[in-house]
Amino acid sequence: MMIPVNEPLLGKEEFTKVLSCLKTNWISSQGKYLTQFEEKFAHYCGLNYGISTTSGTTALHLALASLGIGPGDEVLIPTFTMAATAFAVRYCGATPVLIDSDPETYNMDPERVSSYLRNQERRGKIKVKVILPVHMYGHPVDMDPLLTMADRFSIAVIEDAAEAHGAEYKGKKCGSFGAFGCFSFYANKIITTGEGGMVITSDPRLADKARRLKDLAHSPGKRFLHTDLGFNYRMTNLQAALGVAQLKKINSHIEKKRRMAKEYEKGLQNIPGLRLPIEKPWAKSVYWMYGILVEKECGCSRDQLMERLKKKGIDTRSFFVPMHRQPVFSGRGGKVKKVGPYPVAEKLSEQGFYLPSGLTISSEQIEYICRQIKKIV
Ligand SMILES: Cc1ncc(COP(=O)(O)O)c(C=O)c1O
Repeated sequence: MMIPVNEPLLGKEEFTKVLSCLKTNWISSQGKYLTQFEEKFAHYCGLNYGISTTSGTTALHLALASLGIGPGDEVLIPTFTMAATAFAVRYCGATPVLIDSDPETYNMDPERVSSYLRNQERRGKIKVKVILPVHMYGHPVDMDPLLTMADRFSIAVIEDAAEAHGAEYKGKKCGSFGAFGCFSFYANKIITTGEGGMVITSDPRLADKARRLKDLAHSPGKRFLHTDLGFNYRMTNLQAALGVAQLKKINSHIEKKRRMAKEYEKGLQNIPGLRLPIEKPWAKSVYWMYGILVEKECGCSRDQLMERLKKKGIDTRSFFVPMHRQPVFSGRGGKVKKVGPYPVAEKLSEQGFYLPSGLTISSEQIEYICRQIKKIV
């Protein structure tokens, strides 16, 4: 039997709530669980408004569309991210500008954001409309420098917090800093609705815009009359029922992830060439995935280590392929703006992979995995 790379944790309450939707016929995109889930999740993050969507990808698109982002606009994103971040920008016809990462947190490097913006300033025109940081693998982005720059250049911030439910930057929840925070509730996330997503905001006008756009943009008071190009990004009450049950357990899920990280850290200490994730003093990471780097001193490559672990019944995943290496952006996906070189993203994508990090992983399994790694490297 394989130790899976990730697994959700579902219980009796999820079962009961979903069943109650079936029993009462509230199975589509209206119902009490939707309102509850949106309100409770937004409040958990410290904001007032939550607008549920069908996925993290559509949450990102909805956030960008609600700010009116379109052709000619630039959006700063990390090149080291999941494709959804870049795709959402392209859905709007805008240009993702690919920024390299910080070598310690793997998040978009604020220094590089700053130098890009200063360059544009010198040339006399700021084309950047949004800074879109991603809280990678559950470790918060260093938000203060980005917020200062956004303020100075009148640029919006949208956070991709798909992997960082409950993570904190200086005591404040990730996703609560910008115009919008975007979340995914895919089955491998800290809490899940099967498929699903949400945007959160503190701005009632933006909340209203997002709520209209996600439901085909019917005109207020006049259904079936449309002045905007809306989408159907509606979550179902069935999914929200799962979400409400999961949200009750979010803190215990985060504790499980943090315990897992501690145990991996203990088991993998002092192995030359094996780089473990860090937690900055200002951060509370939720260790969505426990990602490690296999450097030269290990005596084997990342791919060899993954292969050998697989033979021992341990499933793993390599880190993302960065956006500057994606063939889609030389073809139909349209243009991204490359401002390389990208030494950090290159290293991460060559040497990084994550170990089993599911919510059901046991201490014995972690011990077994660490033992196998020590034998191999
Ligand atoms: C950083 C990041 N952004 C966006 C997404 C997209 O979320 P979804 O799969 O729900 O569309 C993911 C999904 O894993 C992600 O990791």
